[in-house]
Amino acid sequence: MQKRLHHGGDYNPDQWLKHPEILADDIKFMQQVKANTFSVGIFAWAALEPQEGEFTFEWLDSVMDNIASFGGQVILATPTAARPAWLSQKYPEVTRTSPRREKMLHGARHNHCFTSPVYREKTSIINRKLAERYKNHPALFMWHISNEYNGECHCDLCRAAFSAWLEQKYGTIDTLNDAYWSAFWSHTYNDFSQVEPPSDIGEIFVHGLTLDWRRFVTHQTIDFYKHEIVPLREITPNIPITTNFMGDFPQPMPFAGLNYAPFAQVVDVISWDAYPPWHNDYECTEETAARLAFLNDYFRSLKNAPFFILESTPSMVNWHSVNRPKRPEMHLLSSVACLAHGADAIMYFQWRKSRGSSEKFHGAVIDHDNSAQNRVFKDVAQVGEMLERVSEIKGSHNPAEIAIIYDTETMWALGETQGFIRADKKYPQTVFAHYKIFRDGNAPVDVISPDKCCAEGLSRYKAVIAPMLYMMPDKLANALALYVENGGTLVTTYISGMVNESDLVHHSGFHPKLREILGIQVTETDSLYPTQRNGILYGNASYKALDNCAVLEIADAEILGTYEQDFYAGSAAVTHNAYGKGAAYFIAARTEEDFLAAFYEKEILNHLNIALPQIKSPRGVSIQTRTGNGVTYYFVMNFTDEAQTIQLPTDMCDLISGRTLAKGQQSLLPKYGAMILK
Ligand code: GAL
Repeated sequence: MQKRLHHGGDYNPDQWLKHPEILADDIKFMQQVKANTFSVGIFAWAALEPQEGEFTFEWLDSVMDNIASFGGQVILATPTAARPAWLSQKYPEVTRTSPRREKMLHGARHNHCFTSPVYREKTSIINRKLAERYKNHPALFMWHISNEYNGECHCDLCRAAFSAWLEQKYGTIDTLNDAYWSAFWSHTYNDFSQVEPPSDIGEIFVHGLTLDWRRFVTHQTIDFYKHEIVPLREITPNIPITTNFMGDFPQPMPFAGLNYAPFAQVVDVISWDAYPPWHNDYECTEETAARLAFLNDYFRSLKNAPFFILESTPSMVNWHSVNRPKRPEMHLLSSVACLAHGADAIMYFQWRKSRGSSEKFHGAVIDHDNSAQNRVFKDVAQVGEMLERVSEIKGSHNPAEIAIIYDTETMWALGETQGFIRADKKYPQTVFAHYKIFRDGNAPVDVISPDKCCAEGLSRYKAVIAPMLYMMPDKLANALALYVENGGTLVTTYISGMVNESDLVHHSGFHPKLREILGIQVTETDSLYPTQRNGILYGNASYKALDNCAVLEIADAEILGTYEQDFYAGSAAVTHNAYGKGAAYFIAARTEEDFLAAFYEKEILNHLNIALPQIKSPRGVSIQTRTGNGVTYYFVMNFTDEAQTIQLPTDMCDLISGRTLAKGQQSLLPKYGAMILK
């Protein structure tokens, strides 16, 4: 089949079974917007199995046939994210129990126990039926497992599974007691069965326990997922499998309830749901775009491969505090923004607006007017056409010489930590602040997990940036040391390298390996009230230091910057250390963007000769590259509110407009304009 990028979205014909005329319109409209891929059946369990053991697949047969009739593809969902009432009524164990041990009632979605044998059995039955029925269907393209897995359950079954998981992990209760530092407040356990999951009516102060519970929730969710896919792998071994991950805004971070790094290893294709709050009143469009870029880079880096935007909105959502439609041209620009960072699919929630319930005012390709004449429909059609024109980019890769480490477990641990600035340690904000400097400079970045650092090594990167990497297990410290020893450049900061994987502080308060690589020792950390400032003198300029200032003792490092005030005035605030064939830098305090920009430009971008696109563009016009089959594609995106001009180093062709742009000439990029050049 000819290469094509995926365009389409969540399609819920099960809501319209009494309206065949609407279903017929859908098929017509799909072709008009050049949509080719649909996630079907996500919440359709009640329509597929209206009574226990009674299956009604006929409606789905005709939906699959209709989509296949115009060459469309279906990402067929397992319907487990919401379940029929009969199931909860007959088997109450399937609903969740809260951390306060309250039994949840039937309702909403994602309200099921991941451990319940009954839920697993019912899931197996429906998933097997779907696989058997559609295994040879020409429309079946990929499996969509459940929907945005999330949440936790504290029922007896889950607590027993947690106990067993702990026993498997620690072997003896003594080892667990050591890991949890449980002599503190007489928290010593005699037996695994005494260890209760964290709850605000019980234990929340044993940080090692809280971390383990979160790890267990990830483990149990993945275990449930693995259970879901058994019949699919067996019956349809060649059909790839995905499940949609979530990203948060405005703090750009992957959904914090699960650690997606281990989850990524068991899916075939990464996909995520992207809902940036365009046109808000608290940041400029360029900033919103940078947050989206960070998440795209995070999700791409999970597998270092093209990914799916499985959900986005063609206009607005209904759950932001204010729900603004995308302004003209933003839909195309925001779609190109995802392609630029490695997406091979632009899909929507939702194909058609429902008439009732909580998502009736959520944006959709087809509005309540059922018309092809409105602005949103035309915007979607424009994206459909664009995707056809640029389809040759499919499968191309994003080369990055710089990696930034983002660690979900550090995020969890810092969330619990009492100390520093207690209310908010600003971990994702800090990682993003460092990331944004490279993005502003059009330097491609991978956003990677510590798991990946350990499993794959870091040798392909010229620089690795590890802001606030609080949790530093030995194997991570060793991976970083090996990287630097072999010639890599590491940058890390205050509140890094402090604790091990159980949140136990390293002897001396700073991982000994880091001490060695960096040639420094952190002796204390001064946390500042919001209006307080220190200063850093670096390269003849003075910069603000705020929030946290680590005080250092120098062993071998060279001092590049010093504090300006307080009892540690004149002491080291920025250091550099040659280690093996490489180098390690330490930024001891939180700074503002001006310092990070100056520091990274000098020490990383220039010093390491990081490859940057040769196209000259003004601030706010982002350029990203993808390469494939020896071709480099330049994604040029104007996130400013005015027209901008760019200058090309050579003649280039814009795949979106089909125009050739001449070398050296000023090429105009309208407000929210986008080009894909080669
Ligand atoms: C997603 C979810 C969809 C829909 C959408 C609304 O998180 O997977 O089912 O609710 O949000 O934006």
